[in-house]
Amino acid sequence: MKKILILNGPNLNLLGKREPEIYGNLTFTDFFETIKEKYNTVELSYFQSNIEGELINKIHEVGFSYDGIVLNAAAYTHTSVALGDAIKAITTPVIEVHISNTFSREAFRHHSYISPVAKGVIVGFGLQSYELAIQSFL
Ligand code: DQA
Repeated sequence: MKKILILNGPNLNLLGKREPEIYGNLTFTDFFETIKEKYNTVELSYFQSNIEGELINKIHEVGFSYDGIVLNAAAYTHTSVALGDAIKAITTPVIEVHISNTFSREAFRHHSYISPVAKGVIVGFGLQSYELAIQSFL
């Protein structure tokens, strides 16, 4: 079975409560349960952290053995050279995802340190962005 990690960055633990007009009403844990059932031919795991170094440690931990990482680095997308370097360092392909269309929002959200080192980028499809990324690994 293919192993795929969904990795979420800061504030995404508040999905469902956080700015629902942008990010929707569903909690990520509820969403994760539905996709685990739907994509039961792959081994899906999920990790979230508000701490940059913990995200980097997780990338190092799975980045030479997993088949794919679906990464929503949230605000670190726009700030973290270290996350970009971590992705460059591993062999597992990373798909960058965003719930909102970052290009229709503030200018500081238009730049990503992840995009140049990602296999692909999926932006603006709500939680479906994660599913499209998973499908790309199947
Ligand atoms: C986000 C977009 C980022 O700009 C923002 O900082 C987030 C969420 C998204 O999924 O739309 O926290 O990554």
